[in-house]
Amino acid sequence: MQEHHGTSRIPGFYEMSAEERLAVARAFADLSPTETAALQGPEGLSLPRAEQMVENVVGIFGLPLGIATNFTINGRDYLIPMAVEEPSVIAGASYAARLAREGGGFVADGDPPLMIGQLQVLGVSDLDGARDRILSAKEDILRRAGEPDPLLRQLGGGPRDLEVRLFRETPVGPMMVVHILFDVRDVMGANVVNTALEAVAPLVAEVAGGRVNLRILSNLADRRVARARTRIPVDALGHEEYGGLETARGIVEAWAMAEVDPYRAATHNKGIMNGIDAVAIATGNDWRAIEAGAHAYAARSGRYTSLSTWSLEGEAYLVGSLALPLAVGTVGGATRVHPAARAALKLLGVKSAAELAQVMVAVGLAQNLAALRALAAEGIQRGHMALHARQVAMAAGATGDLVARVAERLVRERAVRLDRAQEVLKELEQG
Ligand code: MEV
Repeated sequence: MQEHHGTSRIPGFYEMSAEERLAVARAFADLSPTETAALQGPEGLSLPRAEQMVENVVGIFGLPLGIATNFTINGRDYLIPMAVEEPSVIAGASYAARLAREGGGFVADGDPPLMIGQLQVLGVSDLDGARDRILSAKEDILRRAGEPDPLLRQLGGGPRDLEVRLFRETPVGPMMVVHILFDVRDVMGANVVNTALEAVAPLVAEVAGGRVNLRILSNLADRRVARARTRIPVDALGHEEYGGLETARGIVEAWAMAEVDPYRAATHNKGIMNGIDAVAIATGNDWRAIEAGAHAYAARSGRYTSLSTWSLEGEAYLVGSLALPLAVGTVGGATRVHPAARAALKLLGVKSAAELAQVMVAVGLAQNLAALRALAAEGIQRGHMALHARQVAMAAGATGDLVARVAERLVRERAVRLDRAQEVLKELEQG
């Protein structure tokens, strides 16, 4: 795959036209005309292709695709494709990545791509005996689980380990759950794991002396955790009204609320997922699987809490970290069949699913920083309202430069409402 050597720090990107931005992306990642057209939209996904993907198709649903700038991750610069309908997400990620850049950007790593497949075994009379028999038959079971996919084995993947969990009392009696740990390399893993479980279920039932009901991947992919860290000089966080240290303290205080209060943690983590989902969608990954894994992981202690941490290192640095399961693929599924997703992966230039996960966890941390900084230091209302007002102005029917003029009035009057937008629009059109 193409090596990228360009910088992701592109001053003025915000003010360019969509065509100019696309030209920057094309040069950065050496995109072909077809790939460039796929990113642009209309040629991204054809109706016949859509019909191959899902059922009862009537059309194609569009979402804005933007590019976040300024990201440096493990010493390499990335332009980040993000598909999202919410204003401020892409600008926020780019802004936070610029702050992180002041301290060298993000450092990210991750676990090997291990997914968990679950077999639900019922009707076992002696749970402990069954567990011992399953553990003794581990080699046979893993060998059988690897049989359906010799190609994956050649690529270095395949079944790695097995675990047995016992639930002595459930609404349907004693239950044994067998986990097969599967190295899925560069795919998300659902198909590979489900196929392997299908193949191995009869053997597991026989050895356990029970019957297998469910055989399905777990979305709590807690063996496939990606981690990112950033260390930002507090001076970079300064603002006309606030000093850098004051802002950094406000960010740590905001994080602490998510750490202790699940009502805040849900919103805090939602902000993290704003960034991660946008990259997942742009690259054709299953964002519901990622969401499920993230929130289950956030509750792993028994109490739902923040996925990130923020602290001060002396009075000089703000240090942030984020860890969450990221079951993503760079081959297979929609990443292959959706032309825009393929082009987005080319733009990223990632060489493996592990590298994609590292990019995504860094984007999540940046998104979190952007939100906390806005909430703590500026009050999210100001920035958010301005963008929201543009949407309200457009909903009222404003076009061209009237969008900005109507929006500006709404913000000034602190009346970001559709009825007021319609009145202002009429006034401006008549005047
Ligand atoms: C909005 O989409 C996301 C935020 O609410 C996240 C947060 O509160 O941390 C701004």
